[in-house]
Amino acid sequence: MRLLIIGVGNLVASVVQAIEDMNEGRNDYFSFVPHLRWEEVRIVGALDVDRKKVGLKLSQALFVPPNVASKFREVKSDVTVEAGILMDDLGFLSGLIDPVHKDEGEVEDYIRGVKPDLILLATSSNVIHSNTAYAEIAARNGISMINLTPSPIAKELAGKFEENEAFVLGDDLLSQIGGTAFHMGLIEFLESRGVRVLRSYQVDIAGTTEALVTIQDDVKDVKKGIKSSFIRGQRGVEVVAGTSDYVQFLKDRRVSYIVVEGYYGAGAKIRVDISLKTLDSQNAVVPVLDLLKVSSLLKKRSARGNVPEVSGFYFKSPPKTFKSISEAKEELVRFTKAL
Ligand SMILES: NC(=O)c1ccc[n+]([C@@H]2O[C@H](COP(=O)([O-])OP(=O)(O)OC[C@H]3O[C@@H](n4cnc5c(N)ncnc54)[C@H](O)[C@@H]3O)[C@@H](O)[C@H]2O)c1
Repeated sequence: MRLLIIGVGNLVASVVQAIEDMNEGRNDYFSFVPHLRWEEVRIVGALDVDRKKVGLKLSQALFVPPNVASKFREVKSDVTVEAGILMDDLGFLSGLIDPVHKDEGEVEDYIRGVKPDLILLATSSNVIHSNTAYAEIAARNGISMINLTPSPIAKELAGKFEENEAFVLGDDLLSQIGGTAFHMGLIEFLESRGVRVLRSYQVDIAGTTEALVTIQDDVKDVKKGIKSSFIRGQRGVEVVAGTSDYVQFLKDRRVSYIVVEGYYGAGAKIRVDISLKTLDSQNAVVPVLDLLKVSSLLKKRSARGNVPEVSGFYFKSPPKTFKSISEAKEELVRFTKAL
């Protein structure tokens, strides 16, 4: 499968290394869909708007600051990073990058020229207009897309992908064992033991570019809304969850504090305080590898538009939500086995 990457940030730095491991058959990554086989993924192009990354080989650009993801293997992919579209005010990001961009027509010509089967959209959380433009280019050229960002692309533009015989998966990746999945799983566990959960909150800090972008007020509100409503689901629990600070020296480490309060038995109170420490970019690897496996299969089956059975499990803001992570997983497994 020919893959075009948009946004050469921390997540992509970890994911590209894992793709090369998988292509070489060094497959010891966990998978939520172990019945699906890996098919070679060839990276045919990459776009970014950071002057320090544009013009470099992908293998170098992945490890250029402000990226902080660890290098755990040599990267062979040698496509050159080209300039992408920029239609947004960079906000806090302008303190970290000096932008360079091309106009939409030139970028569309580049994308058509590299003939991708699939686009992985992994730009910063705050470039919503650029992301919409990328999605429209993908849709009108019949190129399927995985949207890892919180921009509402699967939610709002699936019809355009469908018209052009392409599919779209999104929006806003749910990390393998990040604060949000852990927080929701904890509430599900407590409920399964008869606890009536009343309220919960989650405070996240990290040293990534993404953490800096997400403490900007407008982005913070969007991300907080997505995380809180995902965890709240259809239950009547009061939930507040979001990134609360950027602590540069943490680099790729993310610290999440989760507090859940409720009662059980004859009104006995329970309070759970948990601190979770993970590596932010590596937390995206397993779900993205799975999404690439599923995409190879969807492409063979000529899938179109939204694929709710897939997006419902791998994303925090999918077009269709399920009652619980386990229900979404059952649906994913049933669906992919029948493909
Ligand atoms: N665990 C995770 O890493 C995780 C989990 C859930 C969602 N996400 C989402 O994935 C996306 C990427 O996360 P990240 O941590 O790699 O972010 P990052 O800030 O490290 O990387 C984003 C990259 O996109 C580039 N960029 C910004 N605007 C662009 C544009 N208009 N065109 C092309 N490139 C552009 C930036 O220069 C940067 O290289 C974010 O939207 C984030 O919300 C990540």
